[in-house]
Amino acid sequence: MIDQDIKDKIDILETEFNKSLNGVSDLTELESLRIKYLGRKGFLSHFFRDLETLPLEERKKVGKVLNKLKDRIQTKLTEFKQVSQKKEVTEKYLDSTLSGDRLPIGRYHPITTVLRQIISCFKGMGFSIAQGPEVETEYYNFEALNIPKEHPARDMQDTLFVNDNVVLRTHTSPVQIRVMENQPPPVRIIAPGRCYRRDTPDSTHSPVFHQVEGLCVDENVTFSDLKGVILVFAKYMFGSDMKIRFRPSFFPFTEPSAEYDFICLICKGRGCHVCKGTGWVEISGAGMVNPEVFKYVHYDSERYTGYAFGMGVERLAMLLYEVHDIRLFYENDVRFLNQF
Ligand code: DAH
Repeated sequence: MIDQDIKDKIDILETEFNKSLNGVSDLTELESLRIKYLGRKGFLSHFFRDLETLPLEERKKVGKVLNKLKDRIQTKLTEFKQVSQKKEVTEKYLDSTLSGDRLPIGRYHPITTVLRQIISCFKGMGFSIAQGPEVETEYYNFEALNIPKEHPARDMQDTLFVNDNVVLRTHTSPVQIRVMENQPPPVRIIAPGRCYRRDTPDSTHSPVFHQVEGLCVDENVTFSDLKGVILVFAKYMFGSDMKIRFRPSFFPFTEPSAEYDFICLICKGRGCHVCKGTGWVEISGAGMVNPEVFKYVHYDSERYTGYAFGMGVERLAMLLYEVHDIRLFYENDVRFLNQF
């Protein structure tokens, strides 16, 4: 047991120290406090000196208690110093009265916005999203789509070849084949993505552009299903007054094939410079999946029928936002992009 009197004195010393520490306002005061308690002539040294008058056993015990107190005081001084130093730095260098830098808020690129609208419309009609590679083999880009070797669509003039039988896909139609290879009917997908063609850029052509492919295969799928889906989409994008039309056409992978147009929004069908006086704007191609294509993916064309369609995303964006030059989409001029 330590003498109660000594114990009380030690307790008072600690309480006094804590009180003084609370009153310290800068590092100079902190240093004075340290000297007062831990310095060579400080309070604790006094105590240690007084120990010499005590009997050996008592000296050991009180010594232990004093050493512990010394450690506690030291720890508190160090902690206090660290916190004050941090505070000093902030106060010195941080001017909280300065006005902040407003970070510019980004936004979607108009092509992304249109893609998202297309996706959301077709998702609503039960289509899921499929994807395929942009570097594609001739087999998927042409052959399995019933585009034979001598077909003009394979022309070196239009296609960017990576090597003899690998190309940068010229359309999203190869995704149709990849999807059908991997799943039996029913199929209902859209495939958005980038395509490449060897075109010289002008106001309506870009060597890189976006398409969305659509494919639906099931029992009893008809051309009128195709028309219905395209009409719903046209109204979703351009409003309920939108009108569409289908014209007979030819694509090797559909039979019968069509091209479809949307009524010109600028002149409401009366004819203007945008629609070149026709009242209609061409969107893309569509048709009933050619049974020749089903052969490549081993679908039973007696039991299943399907429709397919394409669409050019840039063309839709140009119509929607009345942009007259496709190149504006790729220049990334913020003055242009900020308008969307
Ligand atoms: N792939 C065609 C193109 O790039 C567009 C197209 C036409 C897609 C008819 C289709 C379709 O799915 O049935 O011009």
